[in-house]
Amino acid sequence: MLCSINYLHNKSQQSFYLCAMSTLNEQIQVLTAEINAFVPQNAAELEDFRIKFLGTKGLVKSLLGEMKNVPVDQKKEAGQMLNAFKQTAEAKYEALQNEFAGADASANKIDLSLPGTPTSIGTRHPLRVVENQIVSIFEKIGFSVATGPEIEDDWHNFTSLNMPPDHTARDMQDTFYVAQNPDWVLRTHTSSTQARVMETQELPIRVICPGRVYRNETISARAHCFFHQCEGLYIDKNVSFADLKQTLYYFVTEMFGENTKVRFRPSYFPFTEPSAEMDISCTVCGGKGCNLCKHSGWVEILGCGMVHPNMLKNFGIDPEIYTGFAFGMGVERITQIKYQVNDLRLYSQNDVRFLRQFQGIY
Ligand code: PHE
Repeated sequence: MLCSINYLHNKSQQSFYLCAMSTLNEQIQVLTAEINAFVPQNAAELEDFRIKFLGTKGLVKSLLGEMKNVPVDQKKEAGQMLNAFKQTAEAKYEALQNEFAGADASANKIDLSLPGTPTSIGTRHPLRVVENQIVSIFEKIGFSVATGPEIEDDWHNFTSLNMPPDHTARDMQDTFYVAQNPDWVLRTHTSSTQARVMETQELPIRVICPGRVYRNETISARAHCFFHQCEGLYIDKNVSFADLKQTLYYFVTEMFGENTKVRFRPSYFPFTEPSAEMDISCTVCGGKGCNLCKHSGWVEILGCGMVHPNMLKNFGIDPEIYTGFAFGMGVERITQIKYQVNDLRLYSQNDVRFLRQFQGIY
């Protein structure tokens, strides 16, 4: 069977040219051998194969198009040959396609042993971490949390706490006054919440009052215009200074470890009598002397005392029947000691390098 066609594959243009050289039979034999021998290295080569043989301008189509030139008596035979050729090309393509699809699927398979993409869940602020710790230590022994407003009136922040307007003790706490109302201040301590609790709650009272407080201080490594306190108040019959000492000693050992020592120094607060400040043995040097304890072996952590009878009277509580103790600590100070944060400003700078160090601590 003679035929006037030969095919040259012009790969770059993705089209195929015919030239009069050999018989259709020979052509098909050569091309079939090419199909059978074809081993693609990648999916792109397989795609080239598809375009070359099975594409809209591919060899199968072109050869079929040539059928019109085949003499009538040879059409049947030529048709069968071309059909067989077409099927060979299609079968090869399908088989290879399945192979590559399988390879691709395994390439895309998820390897469950690989570590996942980390998702940042953020961290709790160190002050919140420590506030939670303080609160939960006191909750264990029956204290409940009380909160109050940050904008306070004079009565709750000062006067009811045995600090009348001309009391010199007001100088201890440089106060921010609210311009619109001379009676309003930004609370200088959470003792104001204790006052509110005494005003509203039934006896006995056992509360811990966490919260933000404000004082007109120049911002430095050691002072800030706002900070956080946790103050406690316990009023009942027969509450003694020994109860105060034991409660605070329990707190210290829970917070800083069993071997921590405590000492009480006499002090003065208008709302407590007697008053004291409590130091703990330095948690960094263990008492030998370092920068944190200024080489004294002791660090001050809180103020405390027995609730002043005048304060009890201010809230209608009979000091002949009831006694109580109160204490107040700075959360920044406890955090500084526990995690050795040496600059107060770090707490409010929102530097994630600082904050991330508390990741995983709750
Ligand atoms: N309110 C005091 C302060 O802010 C702390 C304190 C509370 C002291 C209760 C004694 C008793 O410094």
